[in-house]
Amino acid sequence: MKPDYTLFDRDTVAIFWGLHAAPIQRMLDYDYIVGRKPSISAIVAPTRSQRFHKCFYGTDEVLIPVYRSVEAAAAAHPEADVMVNFASFRTAYGETMAALEEETIRTVAVIAEGIPERLARGMRDRARELGKVVIGPATVGGIAAGAFRIGNSGGTIEAIVAAKLHRPGSVGLVTRSGGLFNELASVIARNADGVVEGIAIGGDRFPGSDFLDHLRRYEKDPRVKFHVMLGEIGGTLEYRVMEALEKREIRKPLIAWCIGTCAGLFPGEVQFGHAGARAGRERETAVAKNRALKEAGALVPDSFDGLPELIRATYEELKEKGEIEETVEPEVPELPLDFAVALKQGKVRRPRNFICTISDDRGEEPTYCGVPMSEVIEGGYSLGDVISLLWFKRRFPKWASEFIEMVLKVVADHGPAVSGAHNARVAARAGKDLVSALASGILTVGPRFGGAIDGAAHWFKWAKEQGLAPDEFVERMKQEGKLIPGIGHRIKSVRNPDKRVELLKAYAGEKFPKTELLDYALEVERVTTAKRENLILNVDGTIGVLFVDLLASLGYSSREIDEVIEAGALNGLFVLGRSIGFIGHILDEKRLGMPLYRHPWDDILYAVERPSN
Ligand code: ACO
Ligand code: LMR
Repeated sequence: MKPDYTLFDRDTVAIFWGLHAAPIQRMLDYDYIVGRKPSISAIVAPTRSQRFHKCFYGTDEVLIPVYRSVEAAAAAHPEADVMVNFASFRTAYGETMAALEEETIRTVAVIAEGIPERLARGMRDRARELGKVVIGPATVGGIAAGAFRIGNSGGTIEAIVAAKLHRPGSVGLVTRSGGLFNELASVIARNADGVVEGIAIGGDRFPGSDFLDHLRRYEKDPRVKFHVMLGEIGGTLEYRVMEALEKREIRKPLIAWCIGTCAGLFPGEVQFGHAGARAGRERETAVAKNRALKEAGALVPDSFDGLPELIRATYEELKEKGEIEETVEPEVPELPLDFAVALKQGKVRRPRNFICTISDDRGEEPTYCGVPMSEVIEGGYSLGDVISLLWFKRRFPKWASEFIEMVLKVVADHGPAVSGAHNARVAARAGKDLVSALASGILTVGPRFGGAIDGAAHWFKWAKEQGLAPDEFVERMKQEGKLIPGIGHRIKSVRNPDKRVELLKAYAGEKFPKTELLDYALEVERVTTAKRENLILNVDGTIGVLFVDLLASLGYSSREIDEVIEAGALNGLFVLGRSIGFIGHILDEKRLGMPLYRHPWDDILYAVERPSN
């Protein structure tokens, strides 16, 4: 059980409001270097769907559960008695009030700036009614040295260690400003032995807890040997401290200074950085406050610059009296460097798991094989050009890129009866989404339907390179029980030629520098159609052999052509093109709203026999 003057100790865990990865990580980095367990047990993020937030604790990764409300988080984590509230000024008040109503939550740090004064007073008053503590608003929070860090308090881990905020010293520090909190913590580390705890109450006119609230806690804390308070121009909170000094409520040495003494050099009222930093009347000026603090018994230097010396003198005096013992400096584990940071600093390297040589999305715009997207569009690159860049890493000449586009057009669709279109339609009528129905269609592409292009290219090229006469090739395949890919069609034949094949041959005859493999394939077709008239060079076969002719015309070696074929690029052309038709069939079914398809019995031969055994 914590003493009533302790808000934070090494077992304190908090609910963090807001999925702000940076301050969450900074809190856990602090936990790691001071050698305590992670200090955040839950995160509240009402608009996020994720159930956990992953972050580092040293080199380990921890999962912090995410909840949609303070109530849910508090119910699930009664061990958390602090809420670090990173909500925006629009929601910080409501979330703070909700947290104060949770029995288990005792302290709320409100980071947001811009909360209306009326609401700030509301948070302060409700906290006081409940005997709870609100730190802020408009604050960075504070640090209980070696025990608990609020959000970003203290700056980088290096700054925290330099300011000895990673282990308790002898001083109780309270400031308004987060920036000056860091500054004073450093001054105290250099001139004394560091703080036990430092709180920045925030720059607004009505903080949830003020200087005196925290000094009273430090007064009770035996570890605190003297106080340092940094007030500022505006408001009268420092006068509450003076009254406590005069009533001997504060007995430990109190070093105090109010910043903003230069205001008197400016004509009229001056508004300094903090919303509350404006002297409405004489007694709110820094000069008046410093004078009054001195009269009340505080140790007040002649200027801000005099603080270090006064802190050192006070520290040395208390050490002399034996009230302060030497602090044993703990070992501070080195905080692991984030990989991304180390990589950027060139401190680490690692083999990459993937290599990409065709595109790059890291710059201002994506590039296709080095060609910026804007150039692709403004430079009039065709779809065939884009394919030649991304698939073949070259910009093909116009006759070749236009051939690619022609292939896509001729294979785009061949009616609803073909296997792929039928599958796509049946899947659509089963209620499958477009992508799933498309996948269903594409899965039918194979050695018999649409997927014979690679095979045709391979075997015709092989036969020709082997010097096989067409009839020898046909005979060889028959002997090996292999069908020739690219030969044969269910409905097309010599008497019912495939228009697509005619168009492709005509284009090649006109535009291709050479069509040696097509010529060979047509010789083979003469042999096969002599047997059966449907054993024509089909559209797969035509595309396959012509693409080999295209690559050969572009200077590809036989080996390079084989690599293109083995990679499956040519069947890829059919899949790319026919996906246009499959999607058309799916959209057609969606438009028609047809019911689930069930095949008619009268179209199925049931040849079922019971096993004899
Ligand atoms: N090579 C050699 N002989 C063949 C071929 C072929 N590609 N195709 C059929 N035959 C022969 C068969 O061996 C059979 O001979 P047999 O009577 O002596 O046993 C005869 O022709 C009939 O065979 P079927 O398979 O019944 O003929 P079908 O007309 O059904 O086959 C098909 C059409 C599936 C396209 C077939 O020719 C084939 O598999 N071809 C190879 C794969 C191919 O090129 N597919 C792409 C088609 S176009 C596209 O999908 C876009
Ligand atoms: C197609 O392009 O789908 C075909 O050539 C196959 C067929 O059966 O029509």
